[in-house]
Amino acid sequence: MPLSVSSATAMSLPTKNFIHSKARGLANEPRFSYANNLIARFPVENDNLVKWSTPYDDYRPVEYTHKSVLAGPVWADPGDAREIKDFNEGKRVSFTRKYSLDEVSGRPENPAGRTGVIGRGLLGQYGPNHAADPLVTRMNGSVLEFVAIKRRDNGEWAIPGGMVDAGQTVSQTLKREFLEEAQNLLDKDPDQAKIVEKSVSDLFASPTETLYKGYVDDPRNTDNAWMETVCTLFHDASGEMTKNLKLEAGDDAGAVKWMPIDLKSDDFKLYASHRDFIQRAWDFVYKAE
Ligand code: BGC
Repeated sequence: MPLSVSSATAMSLPTKNFIHSKARGLANEPRFSYANNLIARFPVENDNLVKWSTPYDDYRPVEYTHKSVLAGPVWADPGDAREIKDFNEGKRVSFTRKYSLDEVSGRPENPAGRTGVIGRGLLGQYGPNHAADPLVTRMNGSVLEFVAIKRRDNGEWAIPGGMVDAGQTVSQTLKREFLEEAQNLLDKDPDQAKIVEKSVSDLFASPTETLYKGYVDDPRNTDNAWMETVCTLFHDASGEMTKNLKLEAGDDAGAVKWMPIDLKSDDFKLYASHRDFIQRAWDFVYKAE
């Protein structure tokens, strides 16, 4: 059964009392810098000043939209948000809640609060920018493993996620990303590629669970543009569906591998909120046993 957005569990923020911090540059060096130190954010230091409902008269966010976004590629919105008429609809729906628009600029307001930056930063769209994170797990003996990719942008290990293209369903994206990023056999060995394709479609035909669906505390977020993701678990309990999935890094991809899940180790570090997603997968798999 294909996974549809409406059938997935509604979850919006990582935890009940969640306050974003990477979206304020708190994890960056220097502190309060935006993404890889592209600019300095206006420092929103105090957790109590993050929510819009708390007045902050001295708040002076910095306007910033990266030149690659301003150049107007296909994936980017027009510069003037007032030209966009379908906020809160279709591909612009947020998994958190209905977001409000600034009365003057027409720009959406980040549902998680202040970030110190206005504009879109590195993100193409005003409002939610949707990603999909397919989390594929299997038992290898007594060890739970997942498919991990070493990201090209920052070298961190991650779930092989990607942006959702406009008009595509989440499940198609999960599959496309998996085939693109984790499999690179198509040119080298067409017969084996068919087997792999079949394994991938079998695997993705039956999602095990939606682990998370909502806002991501991402360092690229701004007051007007933010990341959301759907993390879907595909657990191959019998090992049948993944036995043909030999993982090989493609030319343009980072390394891809089956990574043992070791949540007790401090060295088990992953990109963005991915460790949290792995924890959810672990809880799900072991609860289900
Ligand atoms: C990544 C996803 C990640 C999301 C939010 C996307 O660019 O591909 O793996 O969950 O950003 O940080």
